[in-house]
Amino acid sequence: MASNNFFMNRSSKTILLFFVIILCSSLQYFSVSSFEFEVGDTKGWIVPPANDSNIYNKWASEKRFQMDDTIHFKYGKDSVMLVTETEYKQCNSTHPIFFSNNGNTIFKFDRSGFFYFISGVSGHCERGQKMIIKVMAPEDDTPPSGGDNNPPSSSNAVLIMSSSVSKVVIQFVLLFVGSSVLLQ
Ligand SMILES: *[C@@H]1O[C@H](CO)[C@@H](O)[C@H](O)[C@H]1NC(C)=O
Ligand SMILES: *[C@@H]1O[C@H](CO)[C@@H](O)[C@H](O)[C@H]1NC(C)=O
Repeated sequence: MASNNFFMNRSSKTILLFFVIILCSSLQYFSVSSFEFEVGDTKGWIVPPANDSNIYNKWASEKRFQMDDTIHFKYGKDSVMLVTETEYKQCNSTHPIFFSNNGNTIFKFDRSGFFYFISGVSGHCERGQKMIIKVMAPEDDTPPSGGDNNPPSSSNAVLIMSSSVSKVVIQFVLLFVGSSVLLQ
C-alpha cells in the first residue's frame, strides 16, 4: 500500500525536502556570488563591422561588472587576450597576461579595476575587436539595505537574484514544492 502512495511516505518526503533545500541554497549561492555576461550578446566575439567598430566598449558600458563575475567569449577562429593598458592602445599582442583560443573562453574578474581585452589575431584588434571593462570595487556597491562589506543577507540575496529572472522562477517553483511537502 505504501507503493500506491508514491509521493507521501515519510522517507521520500524527507529526501525530497533535502534536495529542495540543497537546490535552493546552491542557486542562491551562485546567484549572489557571480553573474556571467555574454560578450557581444548574440554576436559573440567577432571583428566588428567597419561602420560600427566600437561595439564592445558600447556593450561593456551598458553593463555593471563586479568582482567574481565572469564573462564568456564565444568565437570561431580567433582568440582572447588580457593585456595592459599600453598594449591595448597599441594592439600589442606579444606579451598577453592571459591568452585563450579555444572558442569558448570564460574569464573571471578576480579584482576590481580595469581589464583590457584584445583579439590576438593579426589585424583584428586594429579593426575594433577590443574591449575595456571596469570592475566595481566592493565599496562602490550600494546595496539596497545599506550593509557595506557584510556578506549579503538572504533578503539582499533575493534582490540581487532578480537580475536573473529564470533563476528566480526556478527558485519559486522549488520553494513551492518544498513548502507543499512540508505542509502535508
Ligand atoms: C552598418 O552597415 C550595415 C549594412 O551596410 C547597416 O545595416 C547598419 O545599420 C550599419 N550600422 C551603423 C551603426 O551604421
Ligand atoms: C609590445 O609589448 C611588449 C611588452 O609590453 C614590449 O616589450 C614591446 O616592445 C611592445 N611592442 C611594440 C611594437 O610596441
